[in-house]
Amino acid sequence: MIENKNIILIGFMGAGKSHVGRLLADRLSVPFLDIDNEIAEKENMSIDELFRTRGEEEFRKIENRLIKQNESRKSSVIVCGGGAVLDSRNIDSLRKNGLLVYLKAGEEEILERMTGLSDRPLLNVDDRVGEIKRLLCKREPRYQEIADIIIDTSGLSPEEVMKEVMVAIGKSRDKDKE
Ligand code: S3P
Repeated sequence: MIENKNIILIGFMGAGKSHVGRLLADRLSVPFLDIDNEIAEKENMSIDELFRTRGEEEFRKIENRLIKQNESRKSSVIVCGGGAVLDSRNIDSLRKNGLLVYLKAGEEEILERMTGLSDRPLLNVDDRVGEIKRLLCKREPRYQEIADIIIDTSGLSPEEVMKEVMVAIGKSRDKDKE
């Protein structure tokens, strides 16, 4: 891993961060940390339930605490929920030893991937499509601005996205030819 840096995957819900992150950690043989999974495990409830019973503000506090606690982590793949980088304190913590990789997905693709999923509390609203568009429009510039690397995931499988990330971080090796 580049100078022991963490590879941090950021981006909107449905961009494939968790799936790609797992593949990447596997390929690089490094630890994998999914902030949302860690929160769910620690709080002993799903993110959806956490939002419902304790509210978004409380979720953000826990998210912030967990990211802070992992500031000194090294050589890991870390996946953040789509809203984590809206808090600049989280960006500061993640940047301490991490490379921010934005997995960019188009509106259509996100809409398609989110269809039928009910585990994203922010999208459990009447006008789901409108809400996705609104959030994406608001967040996209932020993701673009803070990213060290931007990967366009359009039309790519998680495996292909993982390989693109490998190339971008300079770890591209054609394993299949080894
Ligand atoms: C959120 C994204 C979710 C999760 C929570 C809030 C957001 O994670 O952290 O529901 O604000 O975009 P994913 O991006 O992994 O879906």
